[in-house]
Amino acid sequence: MKTTKKVLLTADRPSGNLHIGHYAGSLANRVRLQATGEFEMFIMIADLQALTDHAQDVQKVTTSVEQLMLDYLAVGLDPQKIHFVLQSAIPALYELPMFYANLVTQARLERNPTVKNEIKTKGYRREVPVGFVNYPISQAADITAFGASLVPVGADQAPMLEQTREIVATFNRLYGETLVMPEALIPEQARGRLVGIDGAGKMSKSLGNCIYLKDSAEELKRKINSMYTDPNHIKVSDPGKVEGNVVFMYLDAFYENKKHLAELKAQYRQGGLGDMVLKKLLFECLDGILAPMRERRAYYEQHMDEVRGYLRAGTKRAREVTDATLAAVKHAMGIYQL
Ligand code: TRP
Repeated sequence: MKTTKKVLLTADRPSGNLHIGHYAGSLANRVRLQATGEFEMFIMIADLQALTDHAQDVQKVTTSVEQLMLDYLAVGLDPQKIHFVLQSAIPALYELPMFYANLVTQARLERNPTVKNEIKTKGYRREVPVGFVNYPISQAADITAFGASLVPVGADQAPMLEQTREIVATFNRLYGETLVMPEALIPEQARGRLVGIDGAGKMSKSLGNCIYLKDSAEELKRKINSMYTDPNHIKVSDPGKVEGNVVFMYLDAFYENKKHLAELKAQYRQGGLGDMVLKKLLFECLDGILAPMRERRAYYEQHMDEVRGYLRAGTKRAREVTDATLAAVKHAMGIYQL
């Protein structure tokens, strides 16, 4: 089967459960993209990339693979429309970086803002694993192997796409027009990542401030009730602050009736609107999104063979596409053929 449609690729590292920040930032967008039918869509579970900072905890990566599949299927990504791919099962993704590594300098890798930032936050300094510094090259292999022209990613991934584009340009200049030049698709609402329920930082597992897609209604209720609002809004009649108020930030992200939301904000600022009323509204809103996900997850948890089958089928299709790219790369470079 040859591709005629443009290819869209995106990927996630398997290292834990997805939360509603992931949903707002990218999963909902993927559900929309699959409905257009414009692209051949691949979603890859990037277990090789996860190993670049989890070499001591392979088990965590491995057990997260099926969890990630369940998250994908739970949000409504459709295996009839999307190929789900396991990165470690695709040989071309190991082979291409060997060629690309010769086209990139060490200085350029170390200058990559995403890598630089991650090295700093992880406190790596010189102890950074080579595989980690190298992951932009591996990611360039991912993107080019699929011939992806569109890569939906968060804003933090823009430098990765930039570096991939440089590799593509260099390769095509040296060896002839071979690789597809990819483009990042970064969500317009440069809202950045959703804050955690404590309002202290971004939603992240290590901070323990996440609402997970798999949370039960009870967990959701408990988390919303503990949510940071305005500490000076004590009596219902007190005027309250909307800015920095997590309940409003989530309503901004998820509540569709924007007109009603604007009225609520005005009323809250003025005084006379209690937190409990807002939290109840937010619960209804989020539970309305999560309830169908729980239902789909419950089905797939009982049908894991089906889940693994989707991953196997998508990976098979991915092999066809990526093997063809690898062959084209070797041919363009004039690598000795046995
Ligand atoms: N670096 C991406 C992330 O951390 C994951 C990823 C790996 C990726 N390979 C990719 C994203 C290829 C897009 C295309 O989220």
